[in-house]
Amino acid sequence: MAAVAGADFATLSVRVSTRWINNFASQSVHHQVKLPQLRRAAFRKSFGRGLRMKRILLFAIFSGALLMTTLAPIGATPQPGSTTKKSFGKTPGGQAVDLYVLTNKSGAEASITNYGGAVVSLKVPDRNGKLADVVLGYDTADGYVNDKSYFGALVGRYGNRIAHAQFVLDGKTYTLAKNNGENTLHGGVKGFNKALWTAKILPAKDGQSLELSYLSKDGEEGFPGNLKVSVIYTLTDTNALRIVYSATTDKKTVLNLTSHGYFNLAGQGSGDILGHLLTIQADKFTPVDAALIPTGELRDVAGTPFDFRKPTAIGVRIDQDDEQLKLGGGYDHNYVLRRSAGVGESLAARVVEPGSGRALEVWTTEPGVQFYTGNFLDGKTPGKGGVPYPRRNAFCLETQHYPDSPNQPKFPSVILKPGERHHTITTYKFTTEK
Ligand code: BGC
Repeated sequence: MAAVAGADFATLSVRVSTRWINNFASQSVHHQVKLPQLRRAAFRKSFGRGLRMKRILLFAIFSGALLMTTLAPIGATPQPGSTTKKSFGKTPGGQAVDLYVLTNKSGAEASITNYGGAVVSLKVPDRNGKLADVVLGYDTADGYVNDKSYFGALVGRYGNRIAHAQFVLDGKTYTLAKNNGENTLHGGVKGFNKALWTAKILPAKDGQSLELSYLSKDGEEGFPGNLKVSVIYTLTDTNALRIVYSATTDKKTVLNLTSHGYFNLAGQGSGDILGHLLTIQADKFTPVDAALIPTGELRDVAGTPFDFRKPTAIGVRIDQDDEQLKLGGGYDHNYVLRRSAGVGESLAARVVEPGSGRALEVWTTEPGVQFYTGNFLDGKTPGKGGVPYPRRNAFCLETQHYPDSPNQPKFPSVILKPGERHHTITTYKFTTEK
């Protein structure tokens, strides 16, 4: 239908332009020096048709170009290798919220909002080159203002839980905002996911980059120090979303930044993720108590439903009679990554969706990854395009330091001191399999 309508439109415009050119041509003749009748006739005969065709062609090209420039800002398909900005709504306080659309050279696309720094959509190809949006999210800023699931958001100051909403640093007890029973989850009541970040489009050699900056003031949600945070998202031309986090502080503090993408490689809203095949590069995980706070133990995955050292469907053991699975309502656990300190990014996890052939590799400099199977999703809040997101419709692989590290002396340190720079990198690489 669309093609037929397009053809009709083209015929129509050629007809209109032919008449317009004829009129224009005949008018202009009046201003020309008069030629003898015969010469004019001969000239018309030999060159007239050619000239007319040329004019028609020129006019068609000109009007086509004009039409394209007029339509582009109305939001037609973003051009490959470009970043565009559009309005995404307002904060409750009336501040404008923007959406940045990063399109790489092969047409993959990441949309990121400066509200909470959330990745709103991520369109990557399947094995036949067909794009699908593989992350959960909302259509407008309002969705993110009301969100309780942290869809796609930047999480800080502290990703995951801090027990009893407090920690001790240099003998001083810091009391934090409680937002998860007695505990602090993902930074408190107003974490980084509810902040309006300052956005800047950056030039990038290997794709499209957007920098988001935020100043978290001394005492925000109870955390010490003025913390300057910068997060650079790059959608590379090879279909990877790289996230570079950096931060400095003017007082000793604790910090654990992550990104809370909810992935479904078959496409957001397409059902549960239980058939996705997962591999995690970890021999141990951190078991939790009833409040999902790590007990401090590093437990072997061997012989447990937590063993993802070989590709295994997420759903095959998820409902087994296992104490840890019951506490989490499924997987909601930190894995101790098999990586050596000091080297760059290491492979943390790999996920394949057999139906579409889409594969995701997660690479990181972080020591841990929280594997969460969307156990608390309830399908009640409509997501993008109005689709509901029921339980286990997505998985998260949040690269991070271990939960509750500020209270767990045996876990790697999360302390950031004045004069130091926090610097971590996580890359989500998308490929396909046959
Ligand atoms: C936590 C879950 C929590 C989810 C959404 C995950 O990082 O581990 O327990 O429900 O985030 O907040």
